Amino acid sequence: MKGIIFREFINLVETKFSIETADSIITASRIKSNGSYTSIGTYPTDEMVALVNELSNISKVPVPALLNTFGRHLFKRFTDIHAMYVTPYTTVFELLRLLDNHIHVEVRKLYSDAELPSFTHEMINADCMLFIYRSKNMLADFAEGMLQGCIEHFNEAIHLERHDVTAGNDAHTRFTMTKEAHVIAS
Ligand code: HEM
Repeated sequence: MKGIIFREFINLVETKFSIETADSIITASRIKSNGSYTSIGTYPTDEMVALVNELSNISKVPVPALLNTFGRHLFKRFTDIHAMYVTPYTTVFELLRLLDNHIHVEVRKLYSDAELPSFTHEMINADCMLFIYRSKNMLADFAEGMLQGCIEHFNEAIHLERHDVTAGNDAHTRFTMTKEAHVIAS
């Protein structure tokens, strides 16, 4: 996982919790890097898992909620630090349609060894998109946070539903996004 992601995570912990909490989770998780990350460096994803687990131990906030908050925050940060990848788009569906084949492809040019997830999408109709996440990292909570951050960024009324498919060899997560006026009450 790229150092930029770790740095953003540590900064968020320092801001939302405290500098002491950030130091504590780095010490307690006994990670090899000792928390010194450069943006373009690459570090084991296990270090992120260890840091988030320690933060959960200290804060008593469950891991999925922490990953979700981080995803939401990171999308907002990307609109700032990587604005060129977001500004060409004006809607959530427009950006997501090009995430796998364009945005993350450009990201790989910037960070050559980036471990990016795979997304496929299908338009169920003009107001409903099925978005499928696959990754060996299985960070679906983080992906969901990124999607929520994206929806907030474009300020659209989109209902997000998640379904984890864990059985079999092809584990993945299906996100169904429906423009609110078209959500059918169940
Ligand atoms: C809603 C839109 C997006 C979603 C759902 C999304 C999702 C994700 C997820 C889940 C990961 C973690 C890796 C994994 O699961 O294997 C990731 C990594 C990453 N994404 Fe995206 N992403 C989005 C938009 C963007 C944008 C706009 C940028 C702009 C720069 C970006 C840059 C990156 C980078 C740099 C990584 C790190 C790769 C690594 O650590 O090796 N993403 N993305």
